[in-house]
Amino acid sequence: MQSSLKVLYLGDVVGRPAREFIASSLASMRRTHDIDVVVANGENATSGAGITREHAELLHGAGVDVITLGDHIWDRHGFERDIDALEYVCRPANLPNECPGRTFVVFERKGVKIGVCVVLGRLFMKINAACPFEAAERILKSSGGNVDVFLAEIHAEATSEKIAFGWHFDGKVSAVVGTHTHVQTADERVLPKGTAYISDLGMCGSHESVIGREILPVLHSIRLGMPQKFAVATEDVRLNGAIIYVATSSGLAKKISRFSEKMS
Ligand SMILES: [Fe+2]
Ligand SMILES: [Fe+2]
Repeated sequence: MQSSLKVLYLGDVVGRPAREFIASSLASMRRTHDIDVVVANGENATSGAGITREHAELLHGAGVDVITLGDHIWDRHGFERDIDALEYVCRPANLPNECPGRTFVVFERKGVKIGVCVVLGRLFMKINAACPFEAAERILKSSGGNVDVFLAEIHAEATSEKIAFGWHFDGKVSAVVGTHTHVQTADERVLPKGTAYISDLGMCGSHESVIGREILPVLHSIRLGMPQKFAVATEDVRLNGAIIYVATSSGLAKKISRFSEKMS
């Protein structure tokens, strides 16, 4: 088993510009940064809302080992029929049990077993989810012993809820990373008991935008309260996330660094 693992964890992939950047550049980024594993949140991969099977396959083919999802999971009609066939796609674990999809994705790389789960936060979120703490605890108890590296994602609006989640799982998992706000936070650190933490990885998509959408329609909607169509923005495309270094003997993190790459 390799003694340490370098994980690139990417924030929400927003629309075609981010998909194309990943398709054209992820393989070379993996080589440049010597990355062993890539995880990305794909909840906005198709036109900024949801993901289709075709786009999940494209991201996986480009080198994303595991695709996590969030509150936009069911935005693409028909994905509920496709999700079970995609063994590398991880749905939020605190959705109702009868929802399709995997709540824990496990795979092996260089002799290391890696597990990934995602939970939804409950503060200021429109989707009705069960307790994220209990959902992640359940997975940890039932399957945590079977993996060397455990990556837990909290897809949530409130920083307080994410930070609380990080403290709760410090020393129990390799990393807790936040997603959903699309804005990268500068609070990355390894917590005292060895869990890498960041409140939000940021987004993969246009940064000349309002969280990935064209600026003017969003401004119009926010200022005037009149509904607008929010097209996915295309300028200043960046991939944002974090690189996490995990010691595989302990399953704990040695280091976490923010990651941001701009499309040239
Ligand atoms: Fe998102
Ligand atoms: Fe979200």
